[in-house]
Amino acid sequence: MKDRIIVTSALPYANGPLHIGHIAGAYLPADIYVRYNRLKKRDILFICGSDENGVPIMLRARKEGVSPQAIVDRYHAMNKQDFEKFGISFDYYGRTSSATHRETSQGIFRRLAENGVFRLKTEKQLYDPEAKLFLADRFVYGTCPKCGYENAYGDQCEKCGTSLSPADLIDPKSAVTNTTPVMKETTHWYLPLAEIQPRLEKWIASHPDWKPNVLGQVKSWFADGLKDRAVTRDLPWGVPVPEDVAAKEGVDVENKVLYVWFDAPIGYISATKEWAQQQGDPELWKKYWQDENASLVHFIGKDNIVFHCLIFPAMLMMHGDFVLPDNVPANEFLNLEGNKLSTSRNYAVWLKDYLEKFEPDSLRYTLAANLPETRDADFSWKEFQARHNNELADIIGNFINRTFTFLKKNFDGVMPPAAAADALDEELEQKIQQARETMGEHIEHFRIKEATRELMDLARFANKYFNDKAPWKTRKEDPEQCASTLNRCANTAYALAVMMQPIMPFSAEKIWKILNAPGSPETAKWDAVGTETLPVGHRFDEVKIVFKKIEDEVIQKEIDTLQAVLDSREDKGTPPEENVEQITIDEFARTELRVGRILSAEKMKGADRLLKLQVDLGTEKRQIIAGIAQHYSPEQLTDRKVVVVANLKPAKLRGELSEGMVLAAVAEDGSLSLVAPDEATPVGARVR
Ligand code: 2FM
Ligand code: ZN
Repeated sequence: MKDRIIVTSALPYANGPLHIGHIAGAYLPADIYVRYNRLKKRDILFICGSDENGVPIMLRARKEGVSPQAIVDRYHAMNKQDFEKFGISFDYYGRTSSATHRETSQGIFRRLAENGVFRLKTEKQLYDPEAKLFLADRFVYGTCPKCGYENAYGDQCEKCGTSLSPADLIDPKSAVTNTTPVMKETTHWYLPLAEIQPRLEKWIASHPDWKPNVLGQVKSWFADGLKDRAVTRDLPWGVPVPEDVAAKEGVDVENKVLYVWFDAPIGYISATKEWAQQQGDPELWKKYWQDENASLVHFIGKDNIVFHCLIFPAMLMMHGDFVLPDNVPANEFLNLEGNKLSTSRNYAVWLKDYLEKFEPDSLRYTLAANLPETRDADFSWKEFQARHNNELADIIGNFINRTFTFLKKNFDGVMPPAAAADALDEELEQKIQQARETMGEHIEHFRIKEATRELMDLARFANKYFNDKAPWKTRKEDPEQCASTLNRCANTAYALAVMMQPIMPFSAEKIWKILNAPGSPETAKWDAVGTETLPVGHRFDEVKIVFKKIEDEVIQKEIDTLQAVLDSREDKGTPPEENVEQITIDEFARTELRVGRILSAEKMKGADRLLKLQVDLGTEKRQIIAGIAQHYSPEQLTDRKVVVVANLKPAKLRGELSEGMVLAAVAEDGSLSLVAPDEATPVGARVR
């Protein structure tokens, strides 16, 4: 273990509110990890902030008809506040529109340029003449060449996760005007990842302990061979390319900014600088970023793995002055009631709404107990209710309530003395020590789910201890024994309050209040749990219910709200993407749809999602490459009638000519079925 730890959580885009998927991915696990390490009295710093540059912000601004600045100001303030209310305890929450950030990003870019790291490339890129915009990243969408998903973005296909360049998209369209872009020449700085790959591979090999889901993704990137990445963009919003660097290359700097994924992770560094300034020690940031005794841990969701495990480390490596991440415990995704969360379709539980109705800890606990650590997880309101009522209220809450009510009633709310330990007492003591050790071990290895289970097991054991000791019986038969039991129960509550602090800081505080213990659960020592006790004669405070049960009606309302979103989708079919405009019948008629019959189908080497089809269109035979291999085997397809887009411009996919497209319906859950005309329909018939 190094002397210092710096923990970062992915900077959320300041273009919308936070939902539980964000929380479960990069924020709650990080917060639990940080809070635990603070109790271990380690030097740990927790950094986050708003990602305020790039296309996502601009798209939102255009949609609302306001300036990008107005968007980031609104959502930065909102997200910062919601994080606070939810108990996410950042030491500093910065923003990438700050002056410190601009200087820091430009400084790193300049150094990489001086080190001769970048390659400059002038080439033709997609351009929307109507919007006067080069169409990078999310400004362009089209069909994913890998899986056939039709709304893949220019930087990534959200369906299959493949990272893309705008030029990879089949039939690209401007997300701003929905028109087909033209090609226009421009110059950009590239990070030569192909050249850096051997160094990255060597470095990754020194971290065999990373999570398998992370190493798996990274290794598959290596296997495909890293591609050079442009780290600048032609956009009117973002961190400007430093003028001196551009001038040296003779490049016009107008509207040239750093790629958002170049500057965003630098946001961790600039936020640390701002934190250091706030501490009155402006150089302090270096102790976390430029000191071998510091350990850097990035908490992220799985869609950010490539940036944190390859691109940002490559930047830091080529710069030379920085530490590289020690671990990147990326989480998988969280689904909602069995369906994919969708921001644009409002199928989500928004943190803001949640906080208006429920206590932060109920959600913190439910998510912690079911984090998508190794595979995607599902959040359901029923499970939320069950975890709150049957575990928080019935186990922890019940133990606290029965202990302190009993103490109030029979010992005047004052700590009674303990007698010599019997076998059961010893078992309890051991159980506490062991739970503290095991829980700590789990958290240190990013197994938050298991740590949470350990905590609840201890509380369960505490209830069993209370039952087995039956103080309501010994009260008369053996008062000394009764006092001893209650002393041990109160001290178990004391231990539980500290141990639950990382996961449920608000409830830990409530129990602390009942305990009337000195200091606070935040300043307690993890290592003293189970050995440090409250003295005999200590006076407890009023007993209060820690977890009030959540009623069925309240939960049903939430379920109904989500169901209504799903229903409205079913009524109208899957709603069109936000950026799809209406068309006239004439425009539709330009698409020539014809009934075809699949003559044969075969798999394509090296493309596990594509099938090569030979299709009879009546008058001619066509070869069509379709992204349906994961849904149909070649055998299932032979002789099937399908609907073909017959006037689609031919394109080459993985070196094979594709002369058309077969229509398929894609459901929200990703399942796909071919559109099939009645068997009697003749091949070649026009569909309209
Ligand atoms: O995916 C996202 O939401 C990005 N805004 C995350 C950025 S993480 C970091 F690099 F800043
Ligand atoms: Zn795809």
